[in-house]
Amino acid sequence: MIPRLAGTLILATVFLSCQKTESFHPCIEVHPNITYQCMEQKLYRIPDNIPSSTKNLDLSFNPLKSLGSHSFSNFPELQVLDLSRCEIETIEDDAYQGLYQLWILKLTGNPLQRLAPGSFSGLSSLQNLVAVQINLASLESLPIGHLITLKKLNVAHNLIHSFKLPEYFSNLTNLEHVDLSKNNIKTIFLKDLQVLHENPQLNLSLDLSLNPIDYIQLGAFKNITLHELTLRSNFNNTNVMETCIENLEGLKVHRLILGEFKNERNVERFDRSTMKGFCNVTIDEFRLTFMDEFSGDATDFTCLEKVSALSLVSLYIKNLKHIPKTFKWQSLSVIKCRVDSFPSLVLPFLKSLIFTINKDANSFFEMELPSLEFLDLSRNGLSFMGCCSHSDLGTTRLKHLDLSYNGVIFMSSNFIGLEQLEYLDFQHSTLKKATEFSVFLSLGKLLYLDISHTGTRIDFDGIFHGLVSLNILKMAGNSFKDNTLSNVFTNLTNLTYLDLSECQLEQVSQGVFDTLPRLQLLNMSHNKLLLLDALCYKHLYSLQVLDCSFNHIETSKGEILPHFPKSLDFLNLTNNSFSCMCEHQTFMQWVKDEKQRLVDVEQMKCATPLGLTGMPVLSFRNSTCQMSKTIISVSVISVLVVFTVAFLVYKFYFHLMLIAGCKKYGRGESTYDAFVIYSSQDEDWVRNELVKNLEEGVPPFQLCLHYRDFVPGVAIAANIIQEGFHKSRKVIVVVSQHFIQSRWCIFEYEIAQTWQFLSSHSGIIFIVLEKVKKSLLRQQVELYRLLSRNTYLEWEDNMLGRHIFWRRLRKALLDGKAWSPEADGDQHEATTSI
Ligand SMILES: *[C@@H]1O[C@H](CO)[C@@H](O)[C@H](O)[C@H]1NC(C)=O
Ligand SMILES: *[C@@H]1O[C@H](CO)[C@@H](O)[C@H](O)[C@H]1NC(C)=O
Ligand SMILES: *[C@@H]1O[C@H](CO)[C@@H](O)[C@H](O)[C@H]1NC(C)=O
Ligand SMILES: *[C@@H]1O[C@H](CO)[C@@H](O)[C@H](O)[C@H]1NC(C)=O
Ligand SMILES: *[C@@H]1O[C@H](CO)[C@@H](O)[C@H](O)[C@H]1NC(C)=O
Ligand SMILES: *[C@@H]1O[C@H](CO)[C@@H](O)[C@H](O)[C@H]1NC(C)=O
Ligand SMILES: *[C@@H]1O[C@H](CO)[C@@H](O)[C@H](O)[C@H]1NC(C)=O
Ligand SMILES: *[C@@H]1O[C@H](CO)[C@@H](O)[C@H](O)[C@H]1NC(C)=O
Ligand SMILES: *[C@@H]1O[C@H](CO)[C@@H](O)[C@H](O)[C@H]1NC(C)=O
Ligand SMILES: *[C@@H]1O[C@H](CO)[C@@H](O)[C@H](O)[C@H]1NC(C)=O
Ligand SMILES: *[C@@H]1O[C@H](CO)[C@@H](O)[C@H](O)[C@H]1NC(C)=O
Ligand SMILES: *[C@@H]1O[C@H](CO)[C@@H](O)[C@H](O)[C@H]1NC(C)=O
Repeated sequence: MIPRLAGTLILATVFLSCQKTESFHPCIEVHPNITYQCMEQKLYRIPDNIPSSTKNLDLSFNPLKSLGSHSFSNFPELQVLDLSRCEIETIEDDAYQGLYQLWILKLTGNPLQRLAPGSFSGLSSLQNLVAVQINLASLESLPIGHLITLKKLNVAHNLIHSFKLPEYFSNLTNLEHVDLSKNNIKTIFLKDLQVLHENPQLNLSLDLSLNPIDYIQLGAFKNITLHELTLRSNFNNTNVMETCIENLEGLKVHRLILGEFKNERNVERFDRSTMKGFCNVTIDEFRLTFMDEFSGDATDFTCLEKVSALSLVSLYIKNLKHIPKTFKWQSLSVIKCRVDSFPSLVLPFLKSLIFTINKDANSFFEMELPSLEFLDLSRNGLSFMGCCSHSDLGTTRLKHLDLSYNGVIFMSSNFIGLEQLEYLDFQHSTLKKATEFSVFLSLGKLLYLDISHTGTRIDFDGIFHGLVSLNILKMAGNSFKDNTLSNVFTNLTNLTYLDLSECQLEQVSQGVFDTLPRLQLLNMSHNKLLLLDALCYKHLYSLQVLDCSFNHIETSKGEILPHFPKSLDFLNLTNNSFSCMCEHQTFMQWVKDEKQRLVDVEQMKCATPLGLTGMPVLSFRNSTCQMSKTIISVSVISVLVVFTVAFLVYKFYFHLMLIAGCKKYGRGESTYDAFVIYSSQDEDWVRNELVKNLEEGVPPFQLCLHYRDFVPGVAIAANIIQEGFHKSRKVIVVVSQHFIQSRWCIFEYEIAQTWQFLSSHSGIIFIVLEKVKKSLLRQQVELYRLLSRNTYLEWEDNMLGRHIFWRRLRKALLDGKAWSPEADGDQHEATTSI
């Protein structure tokens, strides 16, 4: 009972989960009603909740297992159907019936076991059938003879072992490309190509790469014309390759691609004997890729002297030199090769030379290519000791010259003899001496010039003189004298595209763009402009795109803003540092008014003032200005007041304590006769002289000394005030060099002054211990003033001096002291008064 219940539950769950995938829309709607992507959605059936108007349907990686007839009748509009890796094993008759619009069908990676004869019926528009890796054993078994619209057939990665091209190919008059790579074809016989003999109108491109070919019957290709034949990584060794090539005799092929793949290399030697078979093959274009040990000697090419185009890709070429002048090559490409040096070529017929992304060619050598029109030498790290004139290249017909991504290029002549140039690219090479004279003077036909990132510092206004036809000028990543754009564009009246980004520009001189009435795009981004100056762009009557993003623009003068050209559709001002201050209200209003042509206007953010950083310029409100003025002034004032009060409290904290203390202690009894302020450096004198003489003398005075009388555990400052000042009648200040230099003493002294002022009786007695330097004393203005105006006691260390000193001090201390009987009559000589 229980197991049965569990089983039912599990079944129900499975059922529900299936339901779920079906009822919820598992597919991604890429373009509504047009494109649906249902990749890897665990679909067991073709989903039926997708609109019938769908044109592109991707069902790849779903476990569909099989396709019954009329599987796609819901999608009559389907144009592209992807059924890759759907575990399909059987396809029934009429499976695609009704797909009259379908032109691409992908069946890659299905382990097909049964393909019904009528599987592909109804596909009356199919152009591209991808049947890669579908367990196909032969082309014969593929029922596609009626697909007369078919252009491309890809049956790579299958189990095909016979090259027999089926009879039905005669029906496929539109067939252009058949990819048979990575199958198991070992032999090619004359009879295999029978259908091509019978249908010479067929113009096929055949890819046989990665088939282990070891035999080609002599004459199999005789009288055969192919558009393209690809033989890469087909031969086990040099000998097999050599024989097979010889047996291609009689073939006429527009393009022959021979070689290996990077990771599929078997042929150890490749030289003129391997190539000699090509003498009996008619080839228009020849491409050689990934062959080890290719010497590149002229003799290797003997049988290829008549080809019109030769491409050498990913080879190690030791010796591409001394190619005989009789060779008819019109186009030569050397790409991603290792070369020993730059090939200094002399080829009278060559029209196009592409020598790019090669290693180890360090410097350019002169060539003699009198017919050359197209030269691409980019990305080789080459350096050029002189550039450029017809004598460097031996041609006067050059139209296209690409020297980008190379090393240092010295501009030594101004393209004399190269007046036909229309396209010139120097980007990311380092140009030297380009601003010493008008280098482009003779290029009156040049339409395209790229000198971006060439390290050029433009300090010569004549740099572009002569470029009267120029349409496109790219000069990003260079710099200008004084970071100011100067009048360099005077003759470029036909310019439509100008890229000045990343040029560190801070300003633009007057009228720089006034001569460019046809300019449509101007890129000023990634510069350091501070101001948006519409007047600069006023005369650009055709300008459509102006990119001033990534500058330091804060604002623009309001009155000039209307001067932007009417034609301007896109103005990019993002990533600047706008100042959203009220004084720039007009600018911000303009931003709102012009938001149609401002690119990503909501991305324009304020940088200042601080409070508004990151706020969109659009959300700025005029009204905040009125309000904020009041708010700002009020808050500024209150902040100032708070600061002042805090400062005063901080500065006069002890003075305040003193005042508070005065109230508390009032004019009550004093505990001490005097509080002694002194520098700790003078403590010896205080202990040995002052204390001894005053406290042990007659009458005895009670001194307040901080080392002795301060209450421990109470802050020193509080002690000074409570113990020192409030409980003492007088204050003795021991003035010395040390005293003046001690900030602490000076502080005590300042408090003493306040105390004196508050208690309104003369209570400070000065003892000058030693002669103090006047200059030092002057720093303490107040002290200096007091000492120079008043009498003070000067300590003299001799018998008579000491006697007088102690008398005068006692007298001063007695002043105001309640008379006590022990007092003797020694005091009448004291004259100190302060
Ligand atoms: C998709 O098709 C449905 C039905 O034909 C229609 O109502 C809907 O508007 C279409 N959606 C779009 C974006 O065309
Ligand atoms: C060739 O095409 C015709 C007409 O479309 C068709 O009747 C014939 O069966 C096709 N031949 C093969 C071999 O499929
Ligand atoms: C052969 O087919 C190619 C495309 O694969 C095409 O470019 C070429 O013009 C065709 N040649 C002829 C003679 O029809
Ligand atoms: C090749 O064509 C020539 C003439 O065009 C003919 O004489 C010769 O028999 C043909 N060879 C083959 C193998 O078809
Ligand atoms: C190619 O060479 C490998 C190893 O040298 C060998 O195993 C293989 O059978 C050869 N294949 C052919 C078709 O000669
Ligand atoms: C070219 O073909 C001719 C005649 O078929 C033959 O005699 C000659 O040896 C072939 N040349 C090469 C290099 O295979
Ligand atoms: C400038 O362009 C116009 C229109 O494309 C063309 O007619 C004119 O000849 C060009 N001027 C120069 C000097 O190339
Ligand atoms: C180029 O500009 C200079 C200076 O503005 C001027 O004198 C000269 O006539 C211009 N040349 C041409 C061909 O327009
Ligand atoms: C301007 O140049 C920058 C890079 O320097 C580029 O990202 C941007 O797309 C260019 N703007 C336009 C409008 O082409
Ligand atoms: C500025 O906007 C233009 C127009 O949308 C765009 O092409 C360009 O790439 C933007 N600039 C940058 C630096 O992204
Ligand atoms: C440019 O501005 C946008 C929007 O303010 C911001 O998201 C982005 O990070 C900025 N880019 C840079 C490189 O500062
Ligand atoms: C904001 O201020 C600007 C400049 O003072 C003014 O032109 C604009 O009309 C004001 N906008 C509003 C909504 O008040």
